[in-house]
Amino acid sequence: MGAGIAEAFLAGGHPVVLFDVDSAAVERALGSIARNLAKRVARGELEPDADQVALARLSGAGDLAGLGSALVVVEAVVEDMEVKQDLFSELEGLLPDEAVLVTNTSTLSVTAMAAGLADPGRVVAAHFFNPAARMKLVEVTPGLATRPEVADQVHRLLVGIGKTPVLVQESPGGIVSRLQLLVRNEAVRLVAEGIATAADVDTAMKIGSGWPMGPLELIDMVGVDVHVRNSESLARELGSNRYQPHPYLRRLVRGGRTGRKSGQGIYDYRTSSGGTNGASESR
Ligand SMILES: NC(=O)c1ccc[n+]([C@@H]2O[C@H](COP(=O)([O-])OP(=O)(O)OC[C@H]3O[C@@H](n4cnc5c(N)ncnc54)[C@H](O)[C@@H]3O)[C@@H](O)[C@H]2O)c1
Repeated sequence: MGAGIAEAFLAGGHPVVLFDVDSAAVERALGSIARNLAKRVARGELEPDADQVALARLSGAGDLAGLGSALVVVEAVVEDMEVKQDLFSELEGLLPDEAVLVTNTSTLSVTAMAAGLADPGRVVAAHFFNPAARMKLVEVTPGLATRPEVADQVHRLLVGIGKTPVLVQESPGGIVSRLQLLVRNEAVRLVAEGIATAADVDTAMKIGSGWPMGPLELIDMVGVDVHVRNSESLARELGSNRYQPHPYLRRLVRGGRTGRKSGQGIYDYRTSSGGTNGASESR
């Protein structure tokens, strides 16, 4: 996600400095951003040479102090409250007072993340969608202490790089995950109840509801394990059994069938016949 977010700001005209505790991740990100920008030039989405101009504004930092003069830092580190709190607290000691701290968390509370800081008012969440360089939607969520002008500033910044931000008050799953997870779990129940095949459920949602991917294909793409974890978290936080993942999904995870990344999930990607996207149903 960090590489995609960096690419979005870079293509939007901003200078970007990348930092990761794993320096190999910075190298991978620099490489993938360069390749993606070159592809966008080749497709005519960017002016000729725009990739070289943009790349001249991109650099990697060897340590956190390398971000010291940034006015906006977007964190996309592991989804772990303590890691994110420690990072923000360290950044607070390095950055100018007016610098804004943005979290890309999917599930954690922005209020809790900011609570221990000297200035929790400078923290706001901006939830990008994968792939972050291409997906236009960003859910902006202020925490309890976020200054309104900080949320406004981030909103304007996102509009300026061609994104479409929506304002969402702090609530588990925001808008998209809360609705998507419900539909994806309901799609699994349709198949489990024998009402339709996975391929037909996905086809129906693509043709009938204009989804670019079916809900079951999405589970496989996100990762069955990630989907189960996120569903359990929403079931707990919202107190709704509708979010409980079907036992079939837990079985898939136990069997290591975590979706596209493992070659098998709801669909079997090791074969090239049947199903949607050339995958057959894995039952
Ligand atoms: N993957 C998605 O579709 C998606 C979508 C929206 C939001 N998010 C959120 O974005 C964040 C990152 O997700 P991801 O899928 O890219 O994770 P990832 O595990 O692929 O990448 C996390 C990176 O953070 C680095 N890291 C860990 N601790 C660090 C620290 N203290 N300082 C600097 N770097 C550190 C790791 O080395 C790793 O390269 C999470 O909060 C996640 O919830 C993910």
